[in-house]
Amino acid sequence: MADIRTTTDGAQAAEAPPSPTHVAIRREDYRPPEWLVPQIELKFTLGLEETRVQSKLRVERNPAGSGQSRLTLNGDGIAPVGVWVDGAATSAWKMQGDDLVIDLPGDRHEIGIENLVHPAANTKLMGLYASNGMLCTQCEAEGFRRITFFPDRPDVLSKYRVRMEGDATQFPVLLSNGNRVGAGESEGSRHWAEWEDPFPKPCYLFALVAGDLKANRDSFTTMSGRKVDLAIWVREADLPKTGHAMESLKQSMAWDERVYGREYDLDLFNIVAVSDFNMGAMENKSLNIFNTAYVLADKETATDGDFDNIARVVAHEYFHNWSGDRVTCRDWFQLSLKEGFTVFRDQGFSADVGSPAVKRIEDVRVLRAAQFPEDQGPLAHAVRPDSYIEISNFYTATVYNKGAELIRMFHTVLGPEKFRAGTDLYFERHDGEAATCDDFVAALEDGSGVDLSAFKIWYSQAGTPRVRARLDHDAATRTATLHLEQQEDPTPGQPFKEPMPLPLRTALFGEESGAQLGEEQLIILDRAKQTFTFENIGETPLLSINRGFSAPVVLTAERRPGELEKLAQADTDPFARYEAMQELMMSALTAAARGEKLDAEPVIRAIGATLRSNALDPAFKAEAILLPSDTLLADRMQVVDPDAIHAARDALREAIGTALKDDMLAAHRTDGASGDDLSPAAKGIRRLRTVALGYVAAADEAQAAGLAKAQFDAADNMTDRQGALGVLVSLNQPEREEALQAFYDRFRDDALVIDKWFALQAAAQRPDTIDQVLRLVSHPDFTMGNPNRLRALVGMFGGNHWAFHNADGRGYDFLADMIIAADKLNPQIAARLVPAFGRWKRFEPKRSAMMKAALERIVASPGLSKDVYEQVSKSLA
Ligand code: TRP
Ligand code: ZN
Repeated sequence: MADIRTTTDGAQAAEAPPSPTHVAIRREDYRPPEWLVPQIELKFTLGLEETRVQSKLRVERNPAGSGQSRLTLNGDGIAPVGVWVDGAATSAWKMQGDDLVIDLPGDRHEIGIENLVHPAANTKLMGLYASNGMLCTQCEAEGFRRITFFPDRPDVLSKYRVRMEGDATQFPVLLSNGNRVGAGESEGSRHWAEWEDPFPKPCYLFALVAGDLKANRDSFTTMSGRKVDLAIWVREADLPKTGHAMESLKQSMAWDERVYGREYDLDLFNIVAVSDFNMGAMENKSLNIFNTAYVLADKETATDGDFDNIARVVAHEYFHNWSGDRVTCRDWFQLSLKEGFTVFRDQGFSADVGSPAVKRIEDVRVLRAAQFPEDQGPLAHAVRPDSYIEISNFYTATVYNKGAELIRMFHTVLGPEKFRAGTDLYFERHDGEAATCDDFVAALEDGSGVDLSAFKIWYSQAGTPRVRARLDHDAATRTATLHLEQQEDPTPGQPFKEPMPLPLRTALFGEESGAQLGEEQLIILDRAKQTFTFENIGETPLLSINRGFSAPVVLTAERRPGELEKLAQADTDPFARYEAMQELMMSALTAAARGEKLDAEPVIRAIGATLRSNALDPAFKAEAILLPSDTLLADRMQVVDPDAIHAARDALREAIGTALKDDMLAAHRTDGASGDDLSPAAKGIRRLRTVALGYVAAADEAQAAGLAKAQFDAADNMTDRQGALGVLVSLNQPEREEALQAFYDRFRDDALVIDKWFALQAAAQRPDTIDQVLRLVSHPDFTMGNPNRLRALVGMFGGNHWAFHNADGRGYDFLADMIIAADKLNPQIAARLVPAFGRWKRFEPKRSAMMKAALERIVASPGLSKDVYEQVSKSLA
């Protein structure tokens, strides 16, 4: 059993009842730790079923504390088998709920604790657990307390010395943070290794790995000439798939030196790939642990998107070495301090190694698809939240992606040089410390000499600001007047809001000439209502506003007919062009979804012009011609009717596909992209091929099925193969089954590709998707125990707007069943499925009632984790 729930007391009887579990932790209750732990020694006697943990803590009373003699060490499902104070066994301890408390007479002591953990039974994948016969750890946010008793909070920083001992055949490789300082054989076929990390760190950055792994080794020489040994550890058979991750790591190391002046600080850097992992990857000091999905790739099994994600996540975790590890968070409310900033850094990296324009479009699409709904629903929270029940629920798009937008606004306002002066000061000032979001802003201000205090509201105020824009032109005075208004809607716990400072990059273009009229301006809208004037505007102007998506807002501009279409051709900012296309499509679609007649002509003209343009590259074209998703459309509807949204979208796709079939076929035929070519240009060609094929399918299913099957059969890479299958799964053509079967037969032994096979079917746009998904749950390859597989089928289905919101409610029943079942194994993963129900109040009455009933059924199920309890109870509130 992983979870020992019995309360084991020492000699003294427990005085306080076990602490209640589902209580909220509040940011304003932060107090400095009473005790510090400058040094910890850990000894692990490794076993898959049972591992013995012996820890020795040097504890010192914190001068900044209140002087309490009581030392509280957090635990979770563990019990001590022995406790020592200053070398002597003691029974003067007790359990308080899951925590171990000891009253200590002096200011410094040495505490010894021994306990057992059970990795193979650990289905939560937090703490020490087993995956494919190896042992690994995940400690962020509060997993270390499942390994041993410790003040499990990020502002307690310790130097670690770790010894592990285990069977040499079962665990030939023994890794932990820092440097290996010793290794040897012990009795029988056993061996040991000892590791020491010279950098003090909070316990959430501790890591240990033991298993039969092989390394892809390389090295990187840092800007000051230090040679760093790099290793990516995987199962032997996967070694050939580690090349891209290694290249990405070296590129990341060079990029962080060049762009942020950050150099790596140890002689080795390890990455380990694990198949069972709750999230993408983890930045443990010098021992990053990754979900295999973000390490393994070759052209046969990984798409261009997978390659990009690997580079992004490798960079993200590597960048954490400074923004996270060297400077960490004071408490978990400050999570965006490391995550928002690190996402901003990885976005910059991906833009630089790929196409900046396409990357920005992708980032905004993710923000709109994942963060905007969060901000508009019952789980809305600030980038720096004020309270939580379970911190795992706050690893959200708001903390990560909106947090990154916040940093981007600082960057926009300061410009690159001053921003860099600010981050330099931040790293220098807080190196080795646990810092706050306020510390970050203070460093940016002091480093740049610019007052940023007005922007701090972005950390505390939840919700997406809504901006209305209107541009008036007076030909006689040659002036244009921009009228702007902002509105902040209430979110849970924040009924009244203040206007926020919104940096809006703005430019005007001539309606006739198409030429830019004057320089781009950075407008800061910081009041509820404001006007700005542009002089010397002789021609009727087109308004290009929030260029590059400089502020994360929903902006609607009053437009004359034809304005967006012209802007889509004239704008010099690629994001703004994309945005004009999106707005054009959005207005056609929302009108049709409301029951008005579909006006497809302007969209068809704009897409046709985009496809035929010689100035635009294929990657941009592919992005620009994609219709906004069902979910995005739902955001714009007063009352959400998924069938109406879907029908509108289908009708527009068909109209476009029919009118532009020849252009789409031509785009589909574009070649020049061999499977080995991973350049942005080749990726763009592949992307456009498949997007165009989707439009052909909307016009002529049988023709598209033939083309898709041909693309599928001829593919020498996963991008083309998966792209073709992704089109086929939504069609009622014989090729669909043939291709699904062929795909399965070919890749049945490759777990990551079988995840795709499940995900494609769960994402299919067809009326019987719910039936297919119910059938797939019984497929022998489906398991709830593996987070990737659960996300592939169930997570993907929850995001399939039309299928999940099937009018008969079976989608809701299914997801509720899955959440209840998954919660018993892995609460963190189960809780991540809840937001699909989040906006139940916005749906038409029938669906709304069924969604509410599903949430009520979940919250009534016995033994619910605090993870799921928090998400469901907040969703119902
Ligand atoms: N810090 C990790 C990252 O963003 C996130 C993470 C990995 C995580 N594993 C986790 C968060 C488990 C919570 C629980 O890079
Ligand atoms: Zn991160």
